[in-house]
Amino acid sequence: MNPIQLFDPVSSTFTYLIAGPDDNEAVIIDPVDHHLERDLAHVERLGLRLGYILETHVHADHVTSAGRLHERTGARTAVPSGCGVSPAELQLRDGDTIRFGKGETISVIHTPGHTAGSMSYVWRNNVFTGDALLINGCGRTDFQGGSAEALYDSITGKLFALPDETRVWPCHDYKSQQVSTIGWEKRHNARVSNRSRADFIELMEHLNLPKPQLIDIAVPANRNLGLPHGV
Ligand code: FE2
Repeated sequence: MNPIQLFDPVSSTFTYLIAGPDDNEAVIIDPVDHHLERDLAHVERLGLRLGYILETHVHADHVTSAGRLHERTGARTAVPSGCGVSPAELQLRDGDTIRFGKGETISVIHTPGHTAGSMSYVWRNNVFTGDALLINGCGRTDFQGGSAEALYDSITGKLFALPDETRVWPCHDYKSQQVSTIGWEKRHNARVSNRSRADFIELMEHLNLPKPQLIDIAVPANRNLGLPHGV
């Protein structure tokens, strides 16, 4: 089973829709606000019913549609417990399992570093890494409780402990890449492959990236599942 990978060209964000074979219950991961109707159209086209709406972390570059998807479908919102998203129905912790469809499971792995609360989700031989591990890269670590030390440990200690053939589906890509594997990233990832923890920290502390344009809007909005405050 392949995840259905959907793309937002404005923020270069991937949204994923997953369901087991012959199942009608699906899970959506990291939906984007202005693609609400597109995502609902895919769910309907495929004869699916949304069971859960998952976030890998509180995004700084786009607003989630999780709250509105919940209102439209009744699907349960599930977020990392360390992200301060109090309206979500499920506050996920490391080691949790989400069950959906006919025996499908998602394993929750806490992979802090990009943000303090960031989670990765393992479904079958796939891992949805959020902004922890990207294809030939990784998320920045300079806001929202980010930590280069924690990210190095999450990637090398937790994500690289998955089987090499596990497919890596990131939250973003800026170079038209779509999917990788754990084994490939172990060998070729420019940020972490053959790099010591100290070198990685040095590299991450000197990226000098501009502040995300939407951060002051997106972070508070996403802590409320993308719904207007006061609703
Ligand atoms: Fe992010």
